[in-house]
Amino acid sequence: MSKRYFIETFGCQMNDLDSEKIAGSLSHEGMEPVSDASEADIIILNTCSVREKAVQKVYARLGEIRQYKAKRRDLLVGVVGCMAQLEKDRILKKAPFVNLVAGPQKGNAMGQLVELSAKSPEPVVDLRTDEMPSPLESPYIMRGSAWRANITISEGCNRQCAFCVVPLTRGKERVRESAEIIREVRTLASKGYVEIVLLGQTVNSYCDRSGEVVNFAELLRRIAGVRGIRRIRFTSPHPSDFSDELLEVMISCPAVCNQIHLPVQSGSSKVLRAMRRGYTRERYLDMIGKIHAAPRPIAISTDIIVGFPGETESDFQDTLSLLDAVQYDSAFSFKYSPRPFTAALNFPDDVPEEEKGRRLDTLQRKQKQIQNRINEGYLGQKAEVLVEGNARSRLRLMGRLSNNKIVNFDGPDALIGRFEQVEITGFSPNSLKGTWMRQLMKIEEGPQNTMIRPGNN
Ligand code: SAH
Ligand code: F3S
Repeated sequence: MSKRYFIETFGCQMNDLDSEKIAGSLSHEGMEPVSDASEADIIILNTCSVREKAVQKVYARLGEIRQYKAKRRDLLVGVVGCMAQLEKDRILKKAPFVNLVAGPQKGNAMGQLVELSAKSPEPVVDLRTDEMPSPLESPYIMRGSAWRANITISEGCNRQCAFCVVPLTRGKERVRESAEIIREVRTLASKGYVEIVLLGQTVNSYCDRSGEVVNFAELLRRIAGVRGIRRIRFTSPHPSDFSDELLEVMISCPAVCNQIHLPVQSGSSKVLRAMRRGYTRERYLDMIGKIHAAPRPIAISTDIIVGFPGETESDFQDTLSLLDAVQYDSAFSFKYSPRPFTAALNFPDDVPEEEKGRRLDTLQRKQKQIQNRINEGYLGQKAEVLVEGNARSRLRLMGRLSNNKIVNFDGPDALIGRFEQVEITGFSPNSLKGTWMRQLMKIEEGPQNTMIRPGNN
């Protein structure tokens, strides 16, 4: 019988995609996915190390897996991804039963690594980061969705933000050839994919110089020209690489979603300098001004860190006033977490834990009010959603607008994966509530009108 595997993913979208590559590689070796860890012969934890909390989650999970392993000695356990790259010794010390430790560049090779560790009495460790890593193409990939596909366009990061461990775990930036990316997008479109998400640590620093120079804005323009692709998203751009040309492409290509995630981290120029972000509050707000002025409304989201070393109350107030100025549609906010080998580790972590908590809470409450106010403005509007699945609410379905807002509404499951029109009838800070327009039409036109079929676009 073929071996069954279970992959658990922690962290970012890049990790989600890496897990799809790992699944592709394991399936290619004849292994079979299962949806319950307790049924698996192989458990792979694909880990994140961006904050200590993410790391602690993995150790807690390893504590539970220890119990399975006590009952099933032949269970194979792999810890892979960023945390594996960073702290192999601590993993093997705390969880000596782990059979495989491999870094984030090993997704495509996972099948062979698992085979190797099944035969080895000692844990197999592969943390090589090649000088010239293999191209970013994935020969095998098992995608979790039939209509949305994540695509790596670059990996690694050449920046050195003082708080961030990613350049160490994922290495220097490598970019994929644009022709190869376009080929993959065309293939996906021919299989029925309608949404493409381009991924890179600083996705907009992308530049393919292998032939004719193709920068990020140009790559977007070319992908927007692929027939069948109706939505293109990208994450995460870096504010310092945000160009007028990119904004121009976002405005002029309807397939490029009207949404941008522009991580600011802090509203204080002093803190931004200490973070080595490469822009000031003023320059960032300048960019936001241009986005706000765009003829096509573009939703803006961000990442914010509170309690970075040296952040005073007045710096924090600058972050709060930045929220007022930008009016973000959503914001991911975190307490600063010291990371190994980063520059900020040499700065005193001088904002007390309790104060970090207070700042985070204040910021999140303010942001919630902003979102509530923005979302109220959608009441009565009609809009197109791509129906992504079942909602986590009383309503049956969850769809997403081009600008990334979630709309929950009732309708048949057959709509999943389709574009549908909804009317917005309610809101909360994190999502909108809607009514499916075909249902409205049916009600208005009466029962004799049976020709209207759900999702018949
Ligand atoms: N450029 C990357 C950033 C990865 S980290 C991207 O593709 O998004 C994601 C977010 O985690 C960062 O924007 C930052 O807000 C947060 N973060 C990173 N290191 C952190 C740390 N040491 N403490 C707290 N938050 C951190
Ligand atoms: Fe990290 Fe800064 Fe790069 S947040 S991934 S070092 S742009």
